[in-house]
Amino acid sequence: MNQQKLKVLVGRAALEQVVEGSVVGVGTGSTVDCFIDALAGMKERIAGAVSSSMRSSERLRAHGIRVFEAEAVESLPVYIDGADEIDRRGFMIKGGGAALTREKIVADLAERFVCIADASKLVDVLGRFPLPVEVLPMAAAQVARRFVRLGGQARLREGVVTDNGQCILDVHGLQITDPLGFETEVNQWPGVLTVGVFARHKAALCLLGTDEGVQTLRF
Ligand code: 5RP
Repeated sequence: MNQQKLKVLVGRAALEQVVEGSVVGVGTGSTVDCFIDALAGMKERIAGAVSSSMRSSERLRAHGIRVFEAEAVESLPVYIDGADEIDRRGFMIKGGGAALTREKIVADLAERFVCIADASKLVDVLGRFPLPVEVLPMAAAQVARRFVRLGGQARLREGVVTDNGQCILDVHGLQITDPLGFETEVNQWPGVLTVGVFARHKAALCLLGTDEGVQTLRF
């Protein structure tokens, strides 16, 4: 099955995780686009959505799904989002779509993070996918030098300004064996807004699209 079909498959499978009558946390990316399209089919049975990007909010509204600001809700039963990589413990790299800061904020509101991904995203060790880090522009070079000391090479994502008006470094060459420790360390660096390791906000469940169908991984 091609990747797009797998995305459609897991996007549809994620509907079973939606709590009827609730506000749904919705992430960002091409897999989430498939979920949003599927969610439109049950829009009368949800109160609405909180989204992690302008892109997802626009798609939700285009389907007639009400979009709430994150400030308007105290908690969400579930947050559904994709990942660039996920390991067998539910730790993830996210931010390929530059929405990592808002993704972490909305994930933090949610009781459960449900990851939807095709099988190519499952890895043993995080780091093959260049790690996105949202930084304040004045700190970009300084933060990049810190990653060199950890064995990585950080490259500025050219031409990208996030929804928060900041920039993205993509860090190549890392092997993140201790995602929790790594996230804690990088979070301390001045100028780092968000590191794209989701360890404190890891997945509770992953719906993985494979040629054999949707595999459910529980963590
Ligand atoms: C956006 C993300 C996405 O979840 C991640 O990039 C996966 O995207 P896709 O579903 O298009 O492969 O973190 O910031």
